[in-house]
Amino acid sequence: MRILVLGSGAREHAIITSLLSETLGETLGETVGASESGASSASASGASASGASASGSPGKSTGSAGAPRHHHITAAPGNAGIATVVPVVALDPTRGDIVTQYALDNDIELVIIGPEAPLVAGVADALRQRGIPVFGPGKAAAALEGSKTFAKRIMDDAGVPTGLATRAGSLAEAIEAIDEFGAPYVVKADGLAAGKGVLVTPDRDAAVAHATFWLAHGSVLVEEFLAGQEVSLFLVSDGHTVLPLSPAQDYKRVFDGDEGPNTGGMGAYSPLPWLPDTFVDDVIESVALPTIRQLASEGTPFIGLLYCGLIVTDDGVRVIEFNARFGDPETQVVLPRLLTPLSGLLLAAATGQLGSLPRPEFSTDVAVTVVLASEGYPENPLTNRPITGLADVENVTIAHAATALVGGEFVATGGRVLSVVALGADFTEARSRAYAALDIIHLEGGHYRTDVAKRVAE
Ligand code: AMP
Ligand code: GLY
Repeated sequence: MRILVLGSGAREHAIITSLLSETLGETLGETVGASESGASSASASGASASGASASGSPGKSTGSAGAPRHHHITAAPGNAGIATVVPVVALDPTRGDIVTQYALDNDIELVIIGPEAPLVAGVADALRQRGIPVFGPGKAAAALEGSKTFAKRIMDDAGVPTGLATRAGSLAEAIEAIDEFGAPYVVKADGLAAGKGVLVTPDRDAAVAHATFWLAHGSVLVEEFLAGQEVSLFLVSDGHTVLPLSPAQDYKRVFDGDEGPNTGGMGAYSPLPWLPDTFVDDVIESVALPTIRQLASEGTPFIGLLYCGLIVTDDGVRVIEFNARFGDPETQVVLPRLLTPLSGLLLAAATGQLGSLPRPEFSTDVAVTVVLASEGYPENPLTNRPITGLADVENVTIAHAATALVGGEFVATGGRVLSVVALGADFTEARSRAYAALDIIHLEGGHYRTDVAKRVAE
């Protein structure tokens, strides 16, 4: 299949790694026809998973959702790590006209939209209008992520369990709601904020300051505080039917022990051995299907990845947020465990055929990912520092997020630099593989959490 992947992060690198792994018995270089230098830097970057393709990866099943496929994958704009495994093209992924023209000119059979910005910009609508299969919701359904007020309204109408919330358009309204809900305070920017719009704090002054800051950009939501374990559950949707992927847990705070500010995500693991067996079915019935049906009934079907951000409270599951795309870094631990070919699932969703597929299957192997971040992340990341040791790691895959190749050497170009991904028979093994690789990789001032999946390993 000729596939175009939009985006430039570790999530897109993980999606491409998964698509490439469908072609059994071929090296990455042969699979994508990458250049000699591309193929060799793929292994140098660890992107081809020295251990994973040989022993660490469970390999895709050749059953249910189809035989091994041979794909031609292009990423736009991709990143330096992605460029070591597939061709990249420098086009603006948020421009529906440009993306559509590129897809038509290059006989693209499936477009996979990674990040939220192109979704909220309506790129999926532009592609669909020209009959190009696209995995990603149109602008109207993507508002599930792009507007927390819209998401709350859909949840209310669909009877989906979520925390109480008040929308505030002025500081006076925000302060009234803050005092009404009481501590701990939860204040959220209404629109997209790259993981930085949410503050959960016992400090009333900090809550008021956060509301003041984000009110300059739009309205804010003040919410009831929900206590419990968090779960990220991904559901593939064709607008009417959903199929679940394996649950994961994200580490949102920057420092060990859930200290420090919220980030885009510092690590993740999958599966979640502590969840009850009925959990996924319960969420499908109480959250995913009502939401999908509500959107379909409004004429804005959700075709893409419904990311349910959930808290398991003493009173049952509550939605804290929806995203309209794969989560990052959760994707890095969910997809390596997926046995069913990813391309078949996403194409079936894009073409309304999901109802004919069985549930995706997952390996019994577990996965852990740890994000390496630049000094100063999330507030003020210091960049352009070299990353060494990538060629020497074993038994892991590396998903690049913010790297560039300068003079043959990778340098960090942003806050979350890369994800180290390890599989294992159990969490102790997966953790030791991930952290052994992080001992070898060096980035001046770089930092990462040392407690990812620690609780489940113990
Ligand atoms: P969000 O961007 O909405 O996922 O929020 C980021 C993080 O803030 C979540 O992963 C939770 O850890 C925390 N959070 C958000 N909403 C709540 C809430 N109502 N109660 C407790 N924690 C929350
Ligand atoms: N890891 C959280 C997100 O992708 O939004």
